Amino acid sequence: MKVGVFDSGIGGLTVVKSLLQHQLFEEIIYYGDTARVPYGIKDKNTIIRYGLEAVEFFKNFELDLIIVACNTVSAYALDEMRENTYCPIIGVVEAGVLATINALNSKDSQILILGTKATVNSNAYNLALNNFGFTNIESQATGLFVPLVEEEIYSGKILQETFNHYFKNINKPNAVILGCTHFPLISNAIGDYFGEDTILIHSGDAIVEQLEKKFTFTHQYTSPKLKFFASENPESLRSIASKWLNIKQL
Ligand code: DGL
Repeated sequence: MKVGVFDSGIGGLTVVKSLLQHQLFEEIIYYGDTARVPYGIKDKNTIIRYGLEAVEFFKNFELDLIIVACNTVSAYALDEMRENTYCPIIGVVEAGVLATINALNSKDSQILILGTKATVNSNAYNLALNNFGFTNIESQATGLFVPLVEEEIYSGKILQETFNHYFKNINKPNAVILGCTHFPLISNAIGDYFGEDTILIHSGDAIVEQLEKKFTFTHQYTSPKLKFFASENPESLRSIASKWLNIKQL
């Protein structure tokens, strides 16, 4: 299987990391719209337009599947993207919701959704969780986490202060949905903040869980072909990819 992974920038590499760990694909083609990131502060129509442009980009490759690693795009543009492509498209919101309901024992569980402003405003996670009977949900836009991660601040004082700022009025959650590509990189710090009995839902792992339910994978690809594209500065994306994914030569 040949898969395309789309994100607004570098964050979707966290999803690629999960795909690589599970050795599901023969070839992974990553496209990050680094020229126009962040999407999380843009409006619905712009996000849909960018999503459709990504579909056009992927038409250059014969893909078996497109994974939308970006939560913001998954929250707004999946239907339109599906109408305009030739292969299946899956997104992280759907996968994250399914992973959350599988991880929780009770519908009374307290769920905290973290994401960009656009993702939180879309209510995509809340509505889907409501459909499964979960109603104790809080959501918090935590946009500052994105630049902090990009500055490689994964722990320490600044991050703790940012947690205090965002979480001061939040009920202790049973599960936190890391509803943004960047947040898995600070999952240890978020886990420490809420305590070890809080479950963290990671988009990449949720996607793998959904893929393994939906498709039959007969091979394990230990050294898949990887191609990284970006709308701006692809060299910088490749160098971050080699660091985050721990691959020497890309
Ligand atoms: N990739 C985005 C997401 O997962 C975060 C960065 C952005 O705002 O574009 O929502």
